[in-house]
Amino acid sequence: MTGFSRSSQTASELFAFPEGFLWGAATASHQVEGGNRGNDWWQMEQDGRLPHESGEACRHYELYSSDFDLAKSMGHNAHRFSIEWSRIEPRQGEWNEAELEHYVAVIDALRYRGIEPVVTLHHFTNPAWFSQRGGWARKDSVDFFVRYVQVVATRLASRVRFWVTINEPTVYVKRAYITGDWPPCEPRSWGRAIRVLRNMCRAHAAAYPVLHRLRPDAMVGLAHSAPYITACNPSSAADRVTARLRDFALNDALFMLLGRRSGVVLDFIGLNFYARQVVCWRPKAGAAMLLGSECRDDHHGEPRAFTSLGWEIYAPGLRKVLRRFARHGVPLMVTENGIATSDEQLRTRYLMAHLESVAEAVRDGVTVLGYFYWTLMDNFEWTEGRNARFGLVEVDFLTQQRTVRPVARAYQVVCQSNSIEWTSPR
Ligand code: FCB
Repeated sequence: MTGFSRSSQTASELFAFPEGFLWGAATASHQVEGGNRGNDWWQMEQDGRLPHESGEACRHYELYSSDFDLAKSMGHNAHRFSIEWSRIEPRQGEWNEAELEHYVAVIDALRYRGIEPVVTLHHFTNPAWFSQRGGWARKDSVDFFVRYVQVVATRLASRVRFWVTINEPTVYVKRAYITGDWPPCEPRSWGRAIRVLRNMCRAHAAAYPVLHRLRPDAMVGLAHSAPYITACNPSSAADRVTARLRDFALNDALFMLLGRRSGVVLDFIGLNFYARQVVCWRPKAGAAMLLGSECRDDHHGEPRAFTSLGWEIYAPGLRKVLRRFARHGVPLMVTENGIATSDEQLRTRYLMAHLESVAEAVRDGVTVLGYFYWTLMDNFEWTEGRNARFGLVEVDFLTQQRTVRPVARAYQVVCQSNSIEWTSPR
């Protein structure tokens, strides 16, 4: 089976995940809530500088209770979502109590259903005022973020143990400051990109003690986009070096910037895993040459499969990535993993194969706290709009009708039994 490497053996074995394992799905405020008028994405959508408008998204801001009923009916015991900074602090230094209360209600709705909240504080969007004054490129961005975290955590910390400070800093930096197709949509600047990444690391490190002061047993991490990177032709030194450089840039640099003692500001590392990147050396590509380019050819001995967004499906990569990041010496959490497709059988195969990969990592001795499928329901996928269908639940965007997909039932069995049947050995 392409990209999955599940054995066709029939003899099956049951693998039990550790007690208390978190099972659920993830979302992000701008992708589901609707009407996030105060952030930089909304503003650029209105200015026609982005290809799609988030509009009312999934109207999850109003419909969260019934959406959580669905999550509960699908056997989830945890849910990852993000707080929209621009709602909490719509203007610099001005705090919106009603919006804070909204998130209190959201968390209570989860807890009432026995679902553990995992709260992300920054998932790509910034308040428009913050962006206008220079966003993350400014050094004082750290102070603004920490002040926001302080306000949020003062109200929510008694209800929330698991915190993700910032989602995918490396992806944010790349899209916002290198490729420039995300707000602030500025021309490429490597210098600014590095400054932004450094500030995001500082912001995380500064938010960490704030969260711990307000909640001593807090589990604070960030969500890192962790592709599995490999050389196209392992016997080519140029391919190997390029793959290593890309791996360093995408998977190591962030943790180096966090400092040698990153274990001190990370209670866990969240990993968002989607794909494998097969990298080859391409001369004459300017500075980007160092990072190589992705090979999509079928000359690697096995047929390859790609999702509707062109991301390579490679389930064994999740185990490899988990083992790799286990070296940091803190627990891991799969904070995102999922597939955009209209083929529901493929979606189920993708999910089950990736869950087996997580099981293998756990069997290898890696501490994994939980797994969150991306995403609870089809939503607004940034520059891809509404066509990237990642959901456990299908959404009809004209009527906001939700329909549970078959994959959710297969996942439910795993969530509720806290175990997976796999066909070993590997
Ligand atoms: C991740 C993002 C998430 C979603 C998925 C498909 O990089 O964190 O918001 O867009 O990709």
